[in-house]
Amino acid sequence: MTEIVLIRPSLEWLPAYEHALAQGWSPDTTQDVSQEQLRQLRQDPERFLYDLYSSPTLRLADGTEVPRLPAHDFWISDGEFCGRIGFRFQRGTEEMPPKVHGHIGYTIVPWKQRRGYATEALRQILPFARDEGFSRVLITCDDDNLASQKVILANGGVAAGTFPHDRLPGRTKLRFWVPTL
Ligand SMILES: CC(C)(COP(=O)(O)OP(=O)(O)OC[C@H]1O[C@@H](n2cnc3c(N)ncnc32)[C@H](O)[C@@H]1OP(=O)(O)O)[C@@H](O)C(=O)NCCC(=O)NCCS
Repeated sequence: MTEIVLIRPSLEWLPAYEHALAQGWSPDTTQDVSQEQLRQLRQDPERFLYDLYSSPTLRLADGTEVPRLPAHDFWISDGEFCGRIGFRFQRGTEEMPPKVHGHIGYTIVPWKQRRGYATEALRQILPFARDEGFSRVLITCDDDNLASQKVILANGGVAAGTFPHDRLPGRTKLRFWVPTL
């Protein structure tokens, strides 16, 4: 497999991120934010990066504004832009606030999928969770997201029940604990 590395989001890499958005890639899996992000990015690149990763509050998919959790956000590179992965958490507890399902979220651009990149990116972000004091992290995914389930299981994920999907009536989400050690 080609090597991948986790890189901190930066102005230097922003054109590659912009290119992915322009192809219709949405970094948010709960809603398609590609066009909106593209507009904001082109309007003010520095402000865009700040709003995305550093502002004290952020807007959830349902429009509510919440304080930003501490987080380690990365872009994934194999020399080219491949996607994103992020670890967010509350200090001193494994609990997550309402509406935040899991500690780790990831998305690989469609043209870089099925190369093992998500599996490897998850493996590489786990030490950041460990360094923040977490021996395990919670990851959730849709019941029909087989690819994500494989990514989680390949990293030692242990099933931890299901809960009703918040946006898709009749569907469930799966919970997994993934050890960081
Ligand atoms: C889920 C996702 C991140 C997987 O990324 P990826 O880099 O393609 O994953 P990997 O290459 O590491 O593949 C992991 C496993 O899933 C399998 N897989 C990948 N895409 C698949 C697909 N569309 N259908 C079925 N299996 C798939 C791979 O073959 C591999 O299986 P293996 O371990 O048996 O070989 C990617 O499909 C994606 O970004 N999807 C949209 C966003 C999303 O669902 N994010 C996760 C939210 S919980």
